[in-house]
Amino acid sequence: MKHEIVLSEKQIKTITKNIGTALTERLKNEKMPPVFLCVMKGALPFFFDVIKNVKLTMICDFIQLSSYEKTASTGEVIIKKNFEADINGRSVVIIEDIVDTGLSMKFLINYINKNYKPKQVILVSLLDKQCTRKVDVKVDYTGKVLTKSDFLMGYGLDYCEFDRNVPYVYIAQKEDVKYWDSLLK
Ligand code: IMP
Ligand code: MG
Repeated sequence: MKHEIVLSEKQIKTITKNIGTALTERLKNEKMPPVFLCVMKGALPFFFDVIKNVKLTMICDFIQLSSYEKTASTGEVIIKKNFEADINGRSVVIIEDIVDTGLSMKFLINYINKNYKPKQVILVSLLDKQCTRKVDVKVDYTGKVLTKSDFLMGYGLDYCEFDRNVPYVYIAQKEDVKYWDSLLK
């Protein structure tokens, strides 16, 4: 079956170059190297493509979050693996794959501001699903704003860990989900 593509490899290349260039310009006069923080696992491919285009000395670090939907309306976010860098006084650039309800990024930004004193926190997300937002989160740099709530896959985005390796972003269809579910049985 042919995938319905949301971001092609070519579009991703342009997006990562443009965001990397904008961040280079924005952070070129920092006194201390900024920290680029990848939100695993989904943002890994996007993170490495963006940082290749940032022509600055930087510190790379990684955090893994997990969200639990207790009911349809409340989600609880926990840290599965924390970052290690000393972010006090530095600019922190969070790199995320997709901001959906906003709960994960609201949690992470609050966590950072409550426990550290960064110079500033900048949020970069490949995709911004503004139509499904539950809490207010501002994405500073994005590759694409989504106006539909389709479930997206590829380029880091997964369903039960499947298809993170696909080099473009596409819309998951019911048949895809059925197929992956059959592999998990
Ligand atoms: P939140 O709802 O904004 O907290 O998003 C939490 C996480 O859900 C994101 O970081 C993604 O990893 C995942 N997610 C949200 N929408 C999608 C999607 O369409 N495909 C795959 N993962 C998604
Ligand atoms: Mg994510």
